[in-house]
Amino acid sequence: MTPTLTLHPIGFIRSPKQVKFQARHQPAELEAERSVLELVPDCNYELALRDVAGFARIWLVWWFHRNTTWRPLVLPPRGPAQRRGVFATRSPHRPNPVGLTPVQLLGVQGRRLILGPCDLVDSTPVFDIKPYIPAYDAFPEAAAGWHDEVDSALSAPPQFTVRLSPLAEAQAEWLRTTWEIDFCPRMVELLAQDPSPHRSRRIRRRGGVRWEIGCGAWRAFFTVAGQTVNVVTLDAAYPPRFLNDLALEGIPDRAAQLAFLARWPEPETQS
Ligand SMILES: C[S@@+](CC[C@H](N)C(=O)[O-])C[C@H]1O[C@@H](n2cnc3c(N)ncnc32)[C@H](O)[C@@H]1O
Repeated sequence: MTPTLTLHPIGFIRSPKQVKFQARHQPAELEAERSVLELVPDCNYELALRDVAGFARIWLVWWFHRNTTWRPLVLPPRGPAQRRGVFATRSPHRPNPVGLTPVQLLGVQGRRLILGPCDLVDSTPVFDIKPYIPAYDAFPEAAAGWHDEVDSALSAPPQFTVRLSPLAEAQAEWLRTTWEIDFCPRMVELLAQDPSPHRSRRIRRRGGVRWEIGCGAWRAFFTVAGQTVNVVTLDAAYPPRFLNDLALEGIPDRAAQLAFLARWPEPETQS
């Protein structure tokens, strides 16, 4: 019989990132971003944290709890649309959905660890913390297979210029100022690198010359002319029948999506 292991989370991530689109595939170190790891009470974890504060980084061992399936071959979002063995990737779709992130440790306050940028969405369960020890854990010269090839291609400056139409600009501004929602920087970054169809980047054809990119609870329609991507309009990603069905729980940005659809009801016909 295959042995099994029962794990209990030691804590949960508190982060402004509610949807996976907002979390980069690895932490974006340049962003001034904070998350908190809140350890569960009454487990003596305050004591277990003794001496942790001296480490600039810690490893988080965590659960991709929003995934329920795994696939032997996955389509990494970086690089060309080419499937790779899941064990050659950091994909969340693994037989044991365990994530591993070396995150900056900015402070320890009782059972709360203040963390720098990380790739975990809000409420992610964390199983373990280990100190990051550069002498043991860092091997920057080690070959990284297909990843090295993709990296050298991506280190070139973005190949596409991304322009937002006046309508898309107005919608983005409205989302920022009215709802504090801003998915456009990440969207622009992805489109500037490669707007070609790709399931993991959630880019697909939407008829004629129009394309769509999924951005968590939102989406955008765009066209491509030469090396320019024109974002025509933004839109709510969920259809009204889902947004209005209160029995469906956990729809991100539900109120904002409904308000958006009331204001811009027919995205496909506007340009
Ligand atoms: C590519 S994985 C890498 C995770 C980790 N650094 C690793 O190497 O194991 C990071 C992505 O997982 C997704 N993610 C974050 N938290 C998740 C969760 N709790 N459940 C499922 N997917 C999650 C986000 O889309 C994020 O961009």
